[in-house]
Amino acid sequence: MATDALNVVLPFHFRYARGAGDLEAIHTSGVNLVVWRREQEPQMSGLVDAFNAAHDLDVEAVLHSDDPEVWMFLADLPACGARDMLAADIDYLVRRFGRISGCATLRVHLESVSTDACRLFHVDAAALRLLVTYSGFGTQWVTNDNVRRDQLMAQGRSFDAANRAIVSRTGQIRSCRPWWVTVQKGESYPGNAGNGIVHRSPPIEMAGERRLRLCIDEVK
Ligand SMILES: [Fe+2]
Repeated sequence: MATDALNVVLPFHFRYARGAGDLEAIHTSGVNLVVWRREQEPQMSGLVDAFNAAHDLDVEAVLHSDDPEVWMFLADLPACGARDMLAADIDYLVRRFGRISGCATLRVHLESVSTDACRLFHVDAAALRLLVTYSGFGTQWVTNDNVRRDQLMAQGRSFDAANRAIVSRTGQIRSCRPWWVTVQKGESYPGNAGNGIVHRSPPIEMAGERRLRLCIDEVK
């Protein structure tokens, strides 16, 4: 894993974190996305890929950010190394996101995803959200200069037609890789109305793919 060294980059609306400490940059005015491009050992990520392929997971709970009891949260999942690895990582991220958000309670959702339900590019209403795709294709997002915000929402169009209207240059859609951590800033974050990060879940249904996604939301 990377260090917590401060990531100094151009004052742009997204930041790449060199470590978990840099995720705090999400609070910078105008910043709407921080991406921590962390690496996982192929052997370890392979265990989670196999776990996700074998089990259709869907667990959700409200946890305390300073004592999340993640082992209880995952207790009903089959015992194996992949589950233990996920538990340790989720425990770490819940505590970290609790400090970033200042929330004592967080909604944590770990689920296998095999549909294209969220394939429309959109902004979240939520103030802050942490996402990790442990297996499969990660969240896709676009830079602010590649978005026509007046075209957001389906507006009676098919999702494909709407996406073509929303994103100016489809060849510049950015994709997260497995194990990367993103902290997203949405429309209800104070002072961020009109600047929510535009993103979507990658379309996977046609290919018969399955993702394993962790979502951590603030509970206020
Ligand atoms: Fe979203």
